[in-house]
Amino acid sequence: MPVIPGDGIGPEVIVEGKKVLDAVAEVDGFDIEWIDYPYGADHYLSTRELIGENALKELKRYKAIYLGALGDPRVEPGILELGILLRLRFYMDEYINLRPVKLYEGVPTPLKDKKPSDIQFVVVRENTEDFYIGLGGNVKRGRSKHKLDLIRDIYQIRFGLDIESNADEIAYQLGVISNEGARRVIEYAFQYTRNHNKSRITSVDKANVLTHIYGLWREVFEDVAKNYPDIEYEFSFVDATAMWFVKNPEWYQVVVTPNLFGDILTDLGAMIQGGLGVAPGGNINPKGTSMFEPIHGSAPKYKGLNKTNPIATILAGCLLLEDLGVEKSSLKVEKAVEEILREGKIRTYDLGGSSKTSEVGDAIAKKVKEL
Ligand code: IPM
Ligand code: MN
Repeated sequence: MPVIPGDGIGPEVIVEGKKVLDAVAEVDGFDIEWIDYPYGADHYLSTRELIGENALKELKRYKAIYLGALGDPRVEPGILELGILLRLRFYMDEYINLRPVKLYEGVPTPLKDKKPSDIQFVVVRENTEDFYIGLGGNVKRGRSKHKLDLIRDIYQIRFGLDIESNADEIAYQLGVISNEGARRVIEYAFQYTRNHNKSRITSVDKANVLTHIYGLWREVFEDVAKNYPDIEYEFSFVDATAMWFVKNPEWYQVVVTPNLFGDILTDLGAMIQGGLGVAPGGNINPKGTSMFEPIHGSAPKYKGLNKTNPIATILAGCLLLEDLGVEKSSLKVEKAVEEILREGKIRTYDLGGSSKTSEVGDAIAKKVKEL
């Protein structure tokens, strides 16, 4: 299994993730062979390579990748994030970003009076389109022509723009929603809802302002919904959704959202479930290569301190095991995490404790073997 520990705290949390997955593999009678890949800031600074075509091809042969975090203060913001993380998501066409928002017992939430049973939903974030496609440009006063191509496995789009402007300078960025791209993630959300015995989907957009792209999103959603008469659905604007996540999280079961809003809402989701230290995510291509990671970043100031919470990474490991089809093992790891959190003796600073990163990993690995 390929592993990209990455930057900052990435390597130290991924070590704990591997430790716990190795423990469950041992008790459940399978073996995981880890293959570490060096991509990240150090590799970039010494070789000027982000991630090469050959590496991408090689990684594509696997069903899943385990990722720590990317981003480093020595490198201009965006270079590593776009050049490695988004490159991987797009290259592997991981069109689903699955982010469970689940408050475990014993974890403090900033929401007054909310209990674990109130915060139990998943966000299905579209992961390849919207304002993430990376097309745009700048124009200084005058005229210019811009060619902008989006070359993907599922489609190719070529934009040609004649731009004439008398503003000092403008910048623009294109967002794309396609019928194909929206349909596949919405379809996944409905299937997920059905398979997990849930009854309602909330579709998030801003169709009142960004009428073109989210108008299409809604049309496609309505069309897909026809095939699932047993599932109730609603449309909700993103601003209102942010408000309701705080006010009424118990309403939500499955939330499906375009990429950018999903990015923002899942940081909010992470906070209400107890913080970035416990929030995992999966970048999923159901028929290809998926990639599992904590949703937090590389937190450079904590690098090497053995201080940060590895639970988000360990829970990303649960999603990875589920994706590999070893669901029993996935549930076992989740149960171990759940028990350690409930017992409350071993916990990192973000949850009010003083345990080390490695102590949390040790305790969860031990618990896995006892279950
Ligand atoms: C996330 C991150 C990334 C994103 C960044 C690092 C490109 O914030 O995984 O949510 O915006 O998707
Ligand atoms: Mn984010």
